[in-house]
Amino acid sequence: MPDTNAPARIIDGKAFAEGLVGRVTGAVARMKEKIGVVPGLAVVIVGEDPASQVYVRNKGERTLAAGMRSDTHRLPASTTQAELLSLIAELNADDGIHGILVQLPLPAAIDANAVLDAISPDKDVDGFHVVNAGRLAVGLPGLVPCTPLGSIMLLRDALGDLSGLHAVVVGRSNIVGKPMAQLLLAENCTVTVAHSRSRDLPALCRQADILVAAVGRPEMIRGDWVKPGATVIDVGINRVPSADPAKAAEGKTRLVGDVAYAEAAAHAGAITPVPGGVGPMTIACLLANTYAAACRALGHEPERL
Ligand code: GUN
Repeated sequence: MPDTNAPARIIDGKAFAEGLVGRVTGAVARMKEKIGVVPGLAVVIVGEDPASQVYVRNKGERTLAAGMRSDTHRLPASTTQAELLSLIAELNADDGIHGILVQLPLPAAIDANAVLDAISPDKDVDGFHVVNAGRLAVGLPGLVPCTPLGSIMLLRDALGDLSGLHAVVVGRSNIVGKPMAQLLLAENCTVTVAHSRSRDLPALCRQADILVAAVGRPEMIRGDWVKPGATVIDVGINRVPSADPAKAAEGKTRLVGDVAYAEAAAHAGAITPVPGGVGPMTIACLLANTYAAACRALGHEPERL
């Protein structure tokens, strides 16, 4: 039984991600030494969304820092679907590129699903292609979406065997909620997927040994929704006005998760902070997926990361 009076253990995703990036970097260097090839990641961004620009710049820098090739394709918001599909066809055919990521959201005039499904499933380092979603659902090896993959790594590290635990995933997106539920099932959890139409969400959450919040609503999950001793994984990254009204008036902001952290930490056994929890794992898993995709493409035995 967990000691429900002890303060929650903080799950340090930043430290775990640094370790994983270090292992990927080492594996990439050894791959280069052995076969003279480095993994290549192409990131495609369409339009000027400021948050996406920051994410994409960061992905490029981190890819280079891990010793990989990084190509960033910046396209104007006026790009047509046909033009984007043509670039993806080129990247699919480029032997130096092992991973392709199209930054979301795309402009409304472009059908995002059609674009994601045009990426070769073997280069789909986001794991968003229907073939990779299907592989995950039926338990075949494939590329797994980075945020849920990073979350499951943190859970395994924090708890060890997850068998038989009741996991409640709040959120049913294709990017996080659904793949997270599949990964938890594969770990032999009992899984409930809750969402905005679920009845009595607080009561559902209170059943969770593992509570995964992926709703995109700042601090929606309150402390008394958390069962004493539960493990809380907060996937949300929401920018809100500063808690200090004077600073908020100056336009200062802060990042919060989908969980009311201080309240939840008073109940949880372990909890991921925002920032510094799941966030850093997403990019680490993108690098790990790119390495894995390159190993597969080149017939190189992947190292265990
Ligand atoms: N936009 C926000 N998160 C993501 C992500 O994980 N992948 C892509 N491609 N776009 C995003």
